[in-house]
Amino acid sequence: MEKGEDSSTFKMGNSAQERGLPYVPDCYVVPPSWQPCDSNSEIVPTIDVSRLNGGDDERRGVIREISLACQHLGFFQIVNHGINQNILDDALEVAKGFFELPAKEKKKFMSNDVYAPVRYSTSLKDGLDKIQFWRIFLKHYAHPLHRWIHLWPENPPGYREKMGKFCEEVRKLSIEIMGAITESLGLGRDYLSSRMDENGMQVMAVNCYPPCPGPDAALGLPPHSDYSCITILLQNLAGLKIFDPMAHGGSGRWVVVPQVTGVLKVHIGDHVEVLSNGLYKSVVHKVTLNEENTRISLASLHSLDMNDKMSVPCELVNNENPVRYKESSFNDFLDFLVKNDISQGDRFIDTLRIKD
Ligand code: OGA
Ligand code: NI
Repeated sequence: MEKGEDSSTFKMGNSAQERGLPYVPDCYVVPPSWQPCDSNSEIVPTIDVSRLNGGDDERRGVIREISLACQHLGFFQIVNHGINQNILDDALEVAKGFFELPAKEKKKFMSNDVYAPVRYSTSLKDGLDKIQFWRIFLKHYAHPLHRWIHLWPENPPGYREKMGKFCEEVRKLSIEIMGAITESLGLGRDYLSSRMDENGMQVMAVNCYPPCPGPDAALGLPPHSDYSCITILLQNLAGLKIFDPMAHGGSGRWVVVPQVTGVLKVHIGDHVEVLSNGLYKSVVHKVTLNEENTRISLASLHSLDMNDKMSVPCELVNNENPVRYKESSFNDFLDFLVKNDISQGDRFIDTLRIKD
């Protein structure tokens, strides 16, 4: 680090990653234990979700696969999801185009108010992070589209139309997958539909990780789980790593999620862990960096409405299975975010657990 540089030198609009600094400042360096290297990519489950619309037996088979993946990793990849490749490519392209705009244009959206429905920022909680992360992002609400789209960037041209199309398609898919998840828990396909179809929240996190001159020293995002019910993720390059808690006899290991064109990733979030009373695990994941290329990811976070609280269904509670989590909403998560430091390992789900 140059003389006189600390976190305050790298606030949003002036961060090392936005400036493309040729070195990694000390305030971006993560502890070496955050970068273990025993990852492989052999065990990521991949599920053909077109079979959800097949015969009863076929649907039951897919639901079993989803259930196993949710119990083991809290993560799976999906293929044959029905979203046209052009829609995926266009969304990645306009996202990249946004980050390539002149700083002046992007700064119109700059905000570190976590409650803002549209905001551009850097790292995790800009200005407050003890360690900074090599990430630039635009977050915007996406459902119902007509309520938010006029607040989105107008540039690059086509951003609203192409990102909007992607958001709508991903949302339809999220409802299919949530239906399969509630069915797999014995709650029936429509258990959450009235609370997710019309009133559910969709937050789109459009992430950009520029090339990093010291990819082994810094991270794009620290280990965390998402607050959502599910997050559906599209990436242009590998970089996502998920934690397999059962590997190595329970000590766990990090697994590389490979990049395969057209494949989408599904993260189980904290609110499905609650919904399943702990049977399904919200996946801990992080983002690693590379020296050559800009990585773009689109993370679509699906949850109940802002103040609608997710609680453990009474159908899943009995003498052997008491309620293991307190109820909470998306807004409760935002309150948690303001008061806690995810980069220091604080997890929302830990605040919901009811101790025996
Ligand atoms: C997130 C996230 C992963 C990625 O935005 O919550 O985990 O690959 N993103 O960018
Ligand atoms: Ni995440």
